[in-house]
Amino acid sequence: MGKPVALVTGSNRGIGFEVSRQLATRGYLVFMGARDAAAGELAAEKLRAEGLSVAPLQLDVASEESVAAARRRLSDEAGRLDALVNNAGVLLDEGVSGLEVPIETVKQTFEVNVYGALRVSQAFAALLVASGGGNIVNVSSIMGQLAYAGPGYLAYRSSKAALNMITRVLAAELKPQGVRVNSAHPGWIRTRMGGSAAPGKPEEGAAPIVWLATLGADGPTGGFFGPGNKALDW
Ligand SMILES: NC(=O)c1ccc[n+]([C@@H]2O[C@H](COP(=O)([O-])OP(=O)(O)OC[C@H]3O[C@@H](n4cnc5c(N)ncnc54)[C@H](OP(=O)(O)O)[C@@H]3O)[C@@H](O)[C@H]2O)c1
Repeated sequence: MGKPVALVTGSNRGIGFEVSRQLATRGYLVFMGARDAAAGELAAEKLRAEGLSVAPLQLDVASEESVAAARRRLSDEAGRLDALVNNAGVLLDEGVSGLEVPIETVKQTFEVNVYGALRVSQAFAALLVASGGGNIVNVSSIMGQLAYAGPGYLAYRSSKAALNMITRVLAAELKPQGVRVNSAHPGWIRTRMGGSAAPGKPEEGAAPIVWLATLGADGPTGGFFGPGNKALDW
């Protein structure tokens, strides 16, 4: 058998870029999804320069056509998939109250954070199953925890809560086929989304995600985990 294969969405920068680096360092061939093909090329080139096995893959999670084309390409070029990391995400309602956030903003957020992750999971699940099982990691957030919700960020919080439900449903459906599905919270991480005041480095944010992406057959499924691989409340 050749190298295990991983797909990371939104991997041209931020946490997704670091997840790609860490998975490739662990021996995976990593398909680096990026909606902007040129940005994806540039990101893959950086990791190739470190001697890592990565391939850029044009993948806009909000586009059916893009997802279908990416599945055909990955299937043709690699023929298998062992780990899918639904990392691509947007935060569009910073500083806006839930009473005022435009419905259009909520829709745009769901298009990427919820439908995007589901669309990609539906497209690639059969390849994971055909490869003998594997891991899907949905990059979520403690902002989506129902137990501790506060004011603001209604679109982002709701999208991550919905993503967590997708984790639970797909985990139950894919368990018999040996595919584990978990949600990960990376911590508050210094990226374009996290901002410059965030305490964590992308390397730290990637750690629980990489742990879940590389679980073996005895690993957990249907869970929500954060920094230190600690289980989180929903
Ligand atoms: N940073 C934090 O503190 C933090 C905390 C909790 C959870 N998270 C989650 O971690 C994940 C990564 O966030 P980050 O901090 O690394 O953010 P980031 O630096 O803003 O990166 C977001 C990535 O998602 C991509 N993306 C956005 N829309 C996309 C689409 N339609 N199709 C494909 N890719 C798309 C972006 O691509 P472009 O470059 O083309 O825009 C970029 O690569 C997100 O799901 C986020 O919600 C982050």
